[in-house]
Amino acid sequence: MASLDTLFEAAKAIQTRAYAPYSRFKVGAAIATPDGRVFTGCNVENAAYPVGSCAEAGAISAMVAAGESRITEIVVMGEGEHLVTPCGGCRQRIREFAAPDTPIHIAGPEGIRKRFTLDELLPFSFGPDNLTDR
Ligand code: THU
Repeated sequence: MASLDTLFEAAKAIQTRAYAPYSRFKVGAAIATPDGRVFTGCNVENAAYPVGSCAEAGAISAMVAAGESRITEIVVMGEGEHLVTPCGGCRQRIREFAAPDTPIHIAGPEGIRKRFTLDELLPFSFGPDNLTDR
């Protein structure tokens, strides 16, 4: 099991790699899986603005590419005073691989600011069960 401290440091480290020349808003995300592995991602923007990708999406891609499919905990590290919670699209991306009670920690450079569960961020969500339980 990866400690929250490990996840925090991983998110902080990967945030520095963000490619965000347009928004100048760097984000890092670190995901823990049940066997204790940690996968990270940063936002990667593009001159064609809508084509950029979020930090959470990058971390999820790395996790899936490594053969993992379950998220047990996440840390998202953003800039500024406000809580940098995952965007709507990323909440759905996380939903695919997490449980309703999976913790999503929102961090700033000084530490963890707030803990949410996936269900708090994406209540009454649509998911794989909708497609299989028919
Ligand atoms: N961004 C993320 O990577 N994750 C979030 O949770 C919120 C927003 C990125 C997208 C874009 O590159 C920049 O932050 C500004 O919106």
